[in-house]
Amino acid sequence: MKDIEIKAKLHACQMHELSMEDQELVQIAKAQTKNSYCPYSKFHVGAAAKLENGIIIRGANQENAAYPSGLCAERSALFAAGANYPDVPVSTLVIACFTDGRFTDDPGAPCGACRQVMIETEHRYGKPMKVILYGEKEIFVFDNAADLMPVGFFSESLSI
Ligand code: THU
Repeated sequence: MKDIEIKAKLHACQMHELSMEDQELVQIAKAQTKNSYCPYSKFHVGAAAKLENGIIIRGANQENAAYPSGLCAERSALFAAGANYPDVPVSTLVIACFTDGRFTDDPGAPCGACRQVMIETEHRYGKPMKVILYGEKEIFVFDNAADLMPVGFFSESLSI
Protein backbone atom coordinates (compact mmCIF):
# COMPACT_ATOMS: atom_id res chain seq x y z
CA MET A 1 0.00 0.00 0.00
CA LYS A 2 1.30 3.45 -0.74
CA ASP A 3 0.11 6.67 0.76
CA ILE A 4 -0.77 9.52 -1.53
CA GLU A 5 -0.80 12.99 -0.08
CA ILE A 6 -3.52 15.24 -1.39
CA LYS A 7 -2.69 18.91 -1.58
CA ALA A 8 -5.18 21.72 -2.02
CA LYS A 9 -4.44 25.41 -1.82
CA LEU A 10 -6.60 28.25 -0.58
CA HIS A 11 -5.88 31.89 0.14
CA ALA A 12 -7.21 33.22 3.44
CA CYS A 13 -7.69 36.97 3.25
CA GLN A 14 -9.70 40.05 4.18
CA MET A 15 -12.13 41.95 1.98
CA HIS A 16 -9.66 44.75 1.11
CA GLU A 17 -7.22 42.20 -0.27
CA LEU A 18 -9.68 41.15 -2.99
CA SER A 19 -9.81 42.93 -6.35
CA MET A 20 -12.58 45.54 -6.75
CA GLU A 21 -14.33 43.16 -9.13
CA ASP A 22 -14.32 40.36 -6.55
CA GLN A 23 -15.37 42.73 -3.77
CA GLU A 24 -18.41 43.74 -5.85
CA LEU A 25 -19.27 40.08 -6.42
CA VAL A 26 -19.00 39.43 -2.68
CA GLN A 27 -21.42 42.30 -2.03
CA ILE A 28 -23.87 40.78 -4.50
CA ALA A 29 -23.62 37.34 -2.86
CA LYS A 30 -24.18 38.95 0.55
CA ALA A 31 -27.21 40.87 -0.76
CA GLN A 32 -28.54 37.66 -2.25
CA THR A 33 -28.95 36.13 1.21
CA LYS A 34 -32.09 38.30 1.38
CA ASN A 35 -33.60 36.25 -1.45
CA SER A 36 -33.06 32.99 0.38
CA TYR A 37 -36.25 31.04 1.03
CA CYS A 38 -35.31 29.15 4.18
CA PRO A 39 -38.30 28.91 6.53
CA TYR A 40 -37.02 25.55 7.84
CA SER A 41 -33.31 26.09 8.49
CA LYS A 42 -33.35 29.89 8.78
CA PHE A 43 -29.90 29.66 7.21
CA HIS A 44 -29.73 32.21 4.41
CA VAL A 45 -27.19 31.46 1.70
CA GLY A 46 -26.47 33.83 -1.18
CA ALA A 47 -24.44 33.11 -4.29
CA ALA A 48 -23.14 35.14 -7.20
CA ALA A 49 -21.55 33.64 -10.30
CA LYS A 50 -19.63 35.88 -12.68
CA LEU A 51 -19.46 34.58 -16.23
CA GLU A 52 -16.58 35.12 -18.60
CA ASN A 53 -18.71 37.62 -20.54
CA GLY A 54 -19.17 39.72 -17.39
CA ILE A 55 -22.78 38.71 -16.74
CA ILE A 56 -23.57 37.99 -13.09
CA ILE A 57 -25.99 35.22 -12.20
CA ARG A 58 -27.50 35.39 -8.73
CA GLY A 59 -28.55 32.48 -6.54
CA ALA A 60 -30.05 31.82 -3.11
CA ASN A 61 -31.02 28.63 -1.29
CA GLN A 62 -34.62 27.60 -1.87
CA GLU A 63 -36.11 25.24 0.68
CA ASN A 64 -39.21 23.10 0.50
CA ALA A 65 -41.54 21.37 2.98
CA ALA A 66 -40.42 18.18 1.26
CA TYR A 67 -36.86 18.85 2.47
CA PRO A 68 -34.81 17.10 -0.24
CA SER A 69 -36.67 19.04 -2.91
CA GLY A 70 -34.90 22.24 -1.90
CA LEU A 71 -31.75 23.53 -3.54
CA CYS A 72 -28.56 25.17 -2.30
CA ALA A 73 -27.64 28.71 -3.27
CA GLU A 74 -24.54 27.87 -5.29
CA ARG A 75 -26.28 25.18 -7.30
CA SER A 76 -29.22 27.51 -8.00
CA ALA A 77 -26.72 30.02 -9.45
CA LEU A 78 -24.63 27.50 -11.40
CA PHE A 79 -27.65 25.74 -12.87
CA ALA A 80 -29.21 29.07 -13.86
CA ALA A 81 -25.91 30.02 -15.51
CA GLY A 82 -25.84 26.74 -17.44
CA ALA A 83 -29.50 27.05 -18.40
CA ASN A 84 -29.18 30.60 -19.70
CA TYR A 85 -25.59 30.82 -20.94
CA PRO A 86 -24.60 27.22 -21.72
CA ASP A 87 -21.56 28.22 -23.75
CA VAL A 88 -20.09 30.76 -21.36
CA PRO A 89 -17.58 29.63 -18.72
CA VAL A 90 -18.10 30.65 -15.11
CA SER A 91 -15.07 32.63 -13.94
CA THR A 92 -15.88 33.25 -10.28
CA LEU A 93 -18.41 31.97 -7.75
CA VAL A 94 -19.01 33.63 -4.38
CA ILE A 95 -21.00 32.23 -1.45
CA ALA A 96 -22.09 34.06 1.72
CA CYS A 97 -24.13 32.76 4.67
CA PHE A 98 -26.36 34.73 7.05
CA THR A 99 -28.03 33.36 10.16
CA ASP A 100 -29.15 34.61 13.58
CA GLY A 101 -29.12 38.17 12.27
CA ARG A 102 -25.58 38.26 10.95
CA PHE A 103 -23.16 36.91 8.41
CA THR A 104 -21.20 33.92 9.61
CA ASP A 105 -17.73 34.57 11.02
CA ASP A 106 -16.27 31.58 9.25
CA PRO A 107 -16.31 31.20 5.47
CA GLY A 108 -19.41 29.27 4.35
CA ALA A 109 -18.44 25.72 3.43
CA PRO A 110 -20.26 24.37 0.37
CA CYS A 111 -21.92 20.97 0.80
CA GLY A 112 -20.58 17.95 -1.07
CA ALA A 113 -23.29 18.05 -3.74
CA CYS A 114 -22.45 21.67 -4.53
CA ARG A 115 -18.75 20.89 -4.71
CA GLN A 116 -19.58 18.12 -7.18
CA VAL A 117 -21.56 20.56 -9.34
CA MET A 118 -18.74 23.11 -9.07
CA ILE A 119 -16.09 20.70 -10.37
CA GLU A 120 -18.33 19.65 -13.25
CA THR A 121 -18.96 23.30 -14.16
CA GLU A 122 -15.23 23.96 -14.15
CA HIS A 123 -14.43 20.76 -16.04
CA ARG A 124 -17.11 21.32 -18.66
CA TYR A 125 -15.56 24.59 -19.80
CA GLY A 126 -11.97 23.54 -19.21
CA LYS A 127 -11.24 26.77 -17.39
CA PRO A 128 -10.53 27.40 -13.71
CA MET A 129 -13.46 28.72 -11.71
CA LYS A 130 -12.37 30.83 -8.75
CA VAL A 131 -14.43 30.13 -5.63
CA ILE A 132 -14.73 32.74 -2.87
CA LEU A 133 -16.22 31.73 0.46
CA TYR A 134 -17.19 34.77 2.50
CA GLY A 135 -16.83 34.99 6.26
CA GLU A 136 -16.89 38.07 8.49
CA LYS A 137 -13.58 37.17 10.10
CA GLU A 138 -11.92 35.64 7.10
CA ILE A 139 -12.49 35.00 3.41
CA PHE A 140 -11.28 31.87 1.64
CA VAL A 141 -10.32 32.07 -2.02
CA PHE A 142 -9.78 28.92 -4.08
CA ASP A 143 -8.12 29.42 -7.46
CA ASN A 144 -10.17 26.57 -8.84
CA ALA A 145 -13.11 24.40 -7.81
CA ALA A 146 -11.08 21.17 -8.04
CA ASP A 147 -9.20 22.26 -4.91
CA LEU A 148 -12.50 21.99 -3.04
CA MET A 149 -13.01 18.41 -4.15
CA PRO A 150 -9.91 16.29 -4.59
CA VAL A 151 -10.48 12.85 -6.16
CA GLY A 152 -13.58 14.17 -7.87
CA PHE A 153 -16.08 12.29 -9.98
CA PHE A 154 -16.00 13.45 -13.62
CA SER A 155 -17.56 12.38 -16.91
CA GLU A 156 -14.45 10.26 -17.54
CA SER A 157 -15.17 8.39 -14.31
CA LEU A 158 -18.20 6.86 -16.03
CA SER A 159 -16.05 4.68 -18.27
CA ILE A 160 -13.38 2.10 -17.47
N1 THU B 1 -27.02 25.42 1.87
C1 THU B 1 -26.60 26.07 0.77
O1 THU B 1 -27.34 26.86 0.16
N2 THU B 1 -25.35 25.82 0.32
C2 THU B 1 -24.50 24.93 0.88
O2 THU B 1 -23.49 24.59 0.31
C3 THU B 1 -24.79 24.40 2.21
C4 THU B 1 -26.21 24.48 2.62
C5 THU B 1 -28.38 25.64 2.33
C6 THU B 1 -29.25 24.44 2.18
C7 THU B 1 -30.30 24.70 3.23
O3 THU B 1 -31.32 25.52 2.65
C8 THU B 1 -29.59 25.49 4.29
O4 THU B 1 -28.39 25.96 3.69
C9 THU B 1 -29.26 24.70 5.53
O5 THU B 1 -28.57 23.54 5.22
